[in-house]
Amino acid sequence: MKQAPKHPVRLERQGNVALIVIENPPVNALGVAVRRGIAAALNAAVAHEQTDAVVIAANGRTFPVGADIREFDMAPQEPSLGQLCNLIERARKPVVAAIQGTALGGGLELAMAAHYRIAAKSARMGLPEIHLGTLPGAGGTQRLPRLIGPELALDMMLSGNQVGAGIAAEMGLIDLVTDNDLRTEAVDYARSVAVTRPTSANRTHLADGAGYMASVAARREQVTMELGANALAPHKIVDCVEAALLLPMETGLDVERSAFEDCIASRESEGLRHAFFAERAAAKFPEATEAKPAQVDRVAIVGGGMMGAGIAIAALQSGFAVTLVEQGESGVNAALERIGAYYERSVAKGRLSEAQGAAALTHLQLTNKLDTLGEADLIVEAIAEDFDLKSQMLAEIGALAKPDAVIATNTSYLDLAALAAASGRPADTVGLHFFAPAQVNKLVEVGVHDTASAQSVMTAQGFVRALGKTPVRARVHAGFGTGYIGNSILEAYRHAADIMLEDGATPAQIDGAMRSFGFQLGPYQVADMSGLDIAYARRQTKPRDPDARYVEIADKMVEQGWLGQKSNRGYYIYAEGQRQGVPNGDVLKLIAEHRAQKGITPRTFSDRDIRDRILLAIVNAGARLLGEGVAARPSDIDVVMMLGFGYPRSRGGPMMDADATTPSIIASRLSVLAPEEPTLWGAAPVLTMLAQERQKFAELNAS
Ligand code: 3HC
Repeated sequence: MKQAPKHPVRLERQGNVALIVIENPPVNALGVAVRRGIAAALNAAVAHEQTDAVVIAANGRTFPVGADIREFDMAPQEPSLGQLCNLIERARKPVVAAIQGTALGGGLELAMAAHYRIAAKSARMGLPEIHLGTLPGAGGTQRLPRLIGPELALDMMLSGNQVGAGIAAEMGLIDLVTDNDLRTEAVDYARSVAVTRPTSANRTHLADGAGYMASVAARREQVTMELGANALAPHKIVDCVEAALLLPMETGLDVERSAFEDCIASRESEGLRHAFFAERAAAKFPEATEAKPAQVDRVAIVGGGMMGAGIAIAALQSGFAVTLVEQGESGVNAALERIGAYYERSVAKGRLSEAQGAAALTHLQLTNKLDTLGEADLIVEAIAEDFDLKSQMLAEIGALAKPDAVIATNTSYLDLAALAAASGRPADTVGLHFFAPAQVNKLVEVGVHDTASAQSVMTAQGFVRALGKTPVRARVHAGFGTGYIGNSILEAYRHAADIMLEDGATPAQIDGAMRSFGFQLGPYQVADMSGLDIAYARRQTKPRDPDARYVEIADKMVEQGWLGQKSNRGYYIYAEGQRQGVPNGDVLKLIAEHRAQKGITPRTFSDRDIRDRILLAIVNAGARLLGEGVAARPSDIDVVMMLGFGYPRSRGGPMMDADATTPSIIASRLSVLAPEEPTLWGAAPVLTMLAQERQKFAELNAS
């Protein structure tokens, strides 16, 4: 863990104004050393006779972005952020916060405790604690409603959204927005308010607190309806705002403190905090010691189907120049239609202005000429998932790409090393596995094979980060030819579900059990959405494990032409254009006949059985990938499952869940199921090792 700098706060003087400067890279998090530094500097400034006002500012790219989240799991150290904010608010001399970058969470709370706030025009502010399963715990729930009124305050805290300086000023959160040098303006401003010394003038909103009770009650009802009665942090935020409306500041702060502690102690917050750090850890690749991402200006994508078009849109949204290559005029037109339709929808939904949509498209070059690839710094091959077609295309790309370009294939399960060899430039070739819809989904697996160069891996990683997505490294060994992390686990998930389907459960029951666990969709709803023919094609080409039990139900459905949503008929039946289906009675008949043919007497599974069997299969598959070195860290598996497959984020992912149960209990539960299907539930060596050593997966994250 990075140590905070020893002296992260400096006190400077500019005439009669004291300047407290925070410098705690990279984001000026308010760890204990910073809090102590600010408190000491403030006390010194207030005691200093020639000082009439104080400015709190920060060096680097941003004002503090919040409390140091890593400290949430440690013993509290004084002053707490809440105590520091009170100290600032009670200072006898006016305090001005000078905000640049993003003032988030505790950073914004610190600014709210100051008597005045001045912000750079480009600055943004927000209270994102809800995304960590908690709430502003340093007085934010009490000060924000007093500054901007309870309704806007609830909007900000319940959404976690940021607002720009201009809007913040209109709301009353910021006193002055400047386009000039922020530090100079703040010092001048402090000097001007020093004359009048109004230190608490802006806290009057709540004179009629009780008048807002109806809107608080409505908000509570809305939270219950949208998030459920057990969503801890959102309900506590409403409670705290109610306290701000009805109680004196001191008592409101007590209510907030206890609500904050409850939230921090919750499993939900633990999971969300784990997710935050896991995503950042995943982006750290070992190749970073050897190479830095090279500059990528132009990206070329070969193949303009759903995936290729989605990648093109993601790249356009992030400001890349994009070349999209399709076959013939009809291919080009179809791709243009796809991308154009996306921008039309975005404009219609108000996500983009017409001008923004049109501007994005000016950076798109659509062509059927492969030789345009020579201009690209990075080329993504996104044609059909067929080994021969991809090999041929990669050979052409390898011949046309400029010498230092990176070549990426979007294969999800073909043999990456063999595809890289087919390009003729294996060192330059990596896997970039996007997840549909690629313009939205934040996950990209970076496939690394034995001969990929550190440079190409890091450039691909840098490209994914520049798209605002999370790269997860998957080390694929020659001959493995399975789908990185995500698809390998998905395969285990589906295998466990299919075994229960064959043995007595129904698709709707399995889907319902997984939804009640927290997945948005169950496995058969997902299968219907993706198209049953895709997985079918894969099964036809992939060598079968002779030891694994094979469930033919999905194959039989494809043979009937039941392909899911695309044919309006899969595990569910869909009315034309609908995405919500009703169970397909014909599938239930097909399953019953299938069981009879195989001589299987159906048995019953409770929802709990279903969840247990699936979750154990997922964790075991994760442990296997760790043992094989495909995944470097358990937390990388968590990231893939949360971002790629909708594993509930508040649980922090399957490996964190396994730690909560403990690997030794997982291993003993697996030993009960293993005889039914050893390939699925026979404990992976890593799991057995952890169970024997009484260790947790988290300990492998650290190593
Ligand atoms: N505490 C500790 N570390 C933090 C941090 C925080 N609040 N915010 C960011 N970091 C770390 C990251 O882990 C990362 O570390 P690494 O380099 O070792 O991986 C580094 O700072 C840079 O962060 P990002 O990679 O995320 O940088 P970006 O530029 O992409 O994003 C950001 C910057 C938008 C500020 C993003 O980091 C972020 O959203 N941070 C969290 C903000 C937040 O949730 N604040 C509220 C905290 S809770 C709180 O304040 C409680 C209070 O009410 C009492």
